[in-house]
Amino acid sequence: MFVTQIETPVSVNRMLAAFAAPNAGRPPVWLMRQAGRYLPEYKATRAQAGSFLDLCYNPRLAVEVALQPLRRFGLDAAILFSDILVIPDGLGQPVRFEESVGPVLLRLEETADFARLSVGRMLKHLAPVYETVERLRAALPRETALIGFSGAPWTLATYMLEGRGTREFHLAKYWAYARPDDFARLVDILVEAVVEHLSAQVMAGAEVLQIFDSWAGVLDDWGFRRWVEEPTRRIVATLKARHPDVPILLFARGAGARHAGLAARVGVDGVALDCTVPLQWARESVQAGTLVQGNLDPVILRIGGAAMQRAVEAILGAFGGGRFIFNLGHGILPDTPPEHVAALVDLVREAGANR
Ligand code: CP3
Repeated sequence: MFVTQIETPVSVNRMLAAFAAPNAGRPPVWLMRQAGRYLPEYKATRAQAGSFLDLCYNPRLAVEVALQPLRRFGLDAAILFSDILVIPDGLGQPVRFEESVGPVLLRLEETADFARLSVGRMLKHLAPVYETVERLRAALPRETALIGFSGAPWTLATYMLEGRGTREFHLAKYWAYARPDDFARLVDILVEAVVEHLSAQVMAGAEVLQIFDSWAGVLDDWGFRRWVEEPTRRIVATLKARHPDVPILLFARGAGARHAGLAARVGVDGVALDCTVPLQWARESVQAGTLVQGNLDPVILRIGGAAMQRAVEAILGAFGGGRFIFNLGHGILPDTPPEHVAALVDLVREAGANR
């Protein structure tokens, strides 16, 4: 019958198909921070661009670095090359990235400082980012999905209030717990900013969205509901009204047992798990209700070899039969040998050969 020769939707775009049903054959695979310093060609392009933010705001070079890992490894998705901190930078709180320090911002000290932030200004400032999305979609084959992304309000607020990355989050927690009404004003601005930023990416060609709440795990039960779940639920509801067909993933790093039922509570189509989430528990308590993505430890990717093979088999064994996207539990480390990434993608591809 001629029908058997027609390409099924699964072979057209494995990543998008994964949201609809358990995978036929191998799961789709992409890796957080798949574009970055572990690739020599990234370092070369980055040197050409100047600063890291210059690279993020240069559509031609940002497309180039987003494509670099795809040329090497044949991944199932490209992710926009940008950073979560383009939101404060665009809103009017300039960000710079310092060697061996990371991001540095002039911190918001008082509610009066929130008046400096403007979503309209952000959308103009980030025009090159949306142009990158457009050019990237045009450069990709149909079978490769394009992921757009944003930081979540809580994680963005930690950088905006602390002025840099922190281990303790004393300032951000002070606002979150001692001045919730004032903090809510900042979060409201960020909810609007995230909605408009993600919506602009969809209009430019993003087909899947991922929201990064990298510091979700440092809050208590009340804080998690109030500053992770509630703002994310509002963001997702508005995006779903505008773009009902675009799947949304949430990476709530460190959410642990709160992952159970999280996707339903906030309305997302899947959750990205960090590497501390137990596999069997997640299969029963998370994957039963939604798609899961994850969750190989990036340190194990750096180690490679037998340790990696064991860990990959455990993840595929737990999640391979359900709705699943293979990924890391956090971003690729800069000193990861690229051959280990190639070996990882081979392991995931072989998984399909047995099913
Ligand atoms: O390939 C991709 O995944 C897409 C691009 C991407 C970057 N950052 C590029 C980047 C994405 C999705 C991010 C997300 C991001 N950025 C997060 C959330 C995910 C996570 O890791 O928890 C956070 C918290 C940031 C903020 C950030 N950006 C920090 C703290 C740093 C400095 C530390 C570091 O790793 O260098 C960055 C810089 C950054 N973002 C680089 C890249 C490729 C390195 C910049 C360079 O020196 O070239």
